[in-house]
Amino acid sequence: MVVDVRAGDAKSAAYALPDTTARGAPPADAFAGHLGPLNRDTLGFYESLLPYGDLVRLRFLAWPGWALNHPDLIEDVLVRQAASFQKPIGLKRTRRLLGRGILVADGDAWRRQRRLAMPAFHRARVATYVSAMAGIADAHLAQWADGDVRGVVHEMTAITLDIATRTLFGADAGPFARAVETILRNSDAMVHRRLTSWEFLVPDTWPLPQYRDFHRDAKALDEIVFGIIRQRRAAAADTGDLLSMYLQSRDEDGSSLDDNLLRDEVMTLLLAGHDTTALLLSWGLWLLMRHPDAESRVRREVDEVLGGPGGRAATFDDLPALREVRFAIDETLRLYPPAFQNSREATVPVTLGGVTLPARSTVLWSTWAVHRDPRWFPDPLAFRPERFAEAGPARPRLAFHPFGAGPRMCIGNTFAIAEATVVLAEVLRRFRLEVLPGQDVRPFPAFTLRLDREVYARVRLRLPGEASE
Ligand code: HEM
Repeated sequence: MVVDVRAGDAKSAAYALPDTTARGAPPADAFAGHLGPLNRDTLGFYESLLPYGDLVRLRFLAWPGWALNHPDLIEDVLVRQAASFQKPIGLKRTRRLLGRGILVADGDAWRRQRRLAMPAFHRARVATYVSAMAGIADAHLAQWADGDVRGVVHEMTAITLDIATRTLFGADAGPFARAVETILRNSDAMVHRRLTSWEFLVPDTWPLPQYRDFHRDAKALDEIVFGIIRQRRAAAADTGDLLSMYLQSRDEDGSSLDDNLLRDEVMTLLLAGHDTTALLLSWGLWLLMRHPDAESRVRREVDEVLGGPGGRAATFDDLPALREVRFAIDETLRLYPPAFQNSREATVPVTLGGVTLPARSTVLWSTWAVHRDPRWFPDPLAFRPERFAEAGPARPRLAFHPFGAGPRMCIGNTFAIAEATVVLAEVLRRFRLEVLPGQDVRPFPAFTLRLDREVYARVRLRLPGEASE
């Protein structure tokens, strides 16, 4: 084990550097190579790579790929050598929903899109969204009656979709809700196959029989998004939200965003901006319901800061005081990172951990596996929010990276953390949730890390003056 002291690391302490000695790779299928095991058991496959070292050479059909198991190698790709990498081909062929939007674009097109969207996500701007977030959460929670059985994933998805559509696009989530839920439900298996099988070779715009439902659902979603754009162009009013900024933006040559690119951006932000946070909240509530000690600690803090069931919703200024809520959020993101895998393609030859990879190499890594590596997180499978409060072992900067890093880091990370904190605090302040017996939830790796089934919980209304315990 190589040990080093890194002056630049947050804790200025030693940790094991990447060991890139070639140590073989797990068994592969004769034709598909490692796409086979990746497709059959995605999360298990990533975990099975750890004993093979920190840089594992793989084969996807005829193409070589490298799996990165050390956070410093991931930092090389995302931060230090970011200019030598682009988004992978599989993602670029996932065009039907995200089009040429910011998540998929590269180079100058991406830079322009990022510059355009950035002002909507600055900290000061997010601060102005927080009271809207709390108001929307409250309106949804006001529908919950004592004794109701509620589907946690469904409820959290409805809240985060409403927050994204209203704060970013000044639109009512009503018509979206059903269309988005349908497409997410119907496309899970398809997206999973596209990312882990030969299907990544073909564009998702092709009329394959297995894509029929997906194309129908995508068309329905398109109509809603184009409808919003048409309405807002016609109204010509500056409502100060992200859609207004897009509509008013002009390039150096005076041209504005065409409707198709505008549709791609709105669709990307709607999908990236609500599904991930809904999953964070759903996994978080599932974990808290099953860990009463952790739940009590969080609820006690929420009651102290916000005044319990008869109190008030959180404001932006309350966020730093809601530390236990934040630890629970971080621990949920560690165990169930919604963006659980990622990859890039090298545009030029690159050197990672002393090994030179040719241009066009694919590198991939799993945030899921890195977050569960005992080198960085002792007792990694345990849900222990307090580990984020403790001085634990020295970790590389990217041992925990739920939002990525570098220039392509999640644009909505401050938005997501503020939203998750406000919603989680509101749920715990006003209700107790009891998970119905006999439910065993497992992660389902699609585009994001989903729960493989709905989680049903009975909700108990808390009364003013009721204790936190
Ligand atoms: C828990 C919630 C979230 C998680 C875990 C998450 C995770 C991520 C990650 C890992 C990336 C980087 C992808 C890469 O490197 O290839 C990313 C990018 C992105 N995220 Fe998020 N995200 C979340 C919430 C949000 C929200 C609330 C928004 C917007 C409202 C958003 C919008 C985006 C966009 C537009 C990008 C692409 C940025 C670019 O390429 O410049 N995300 N997200």
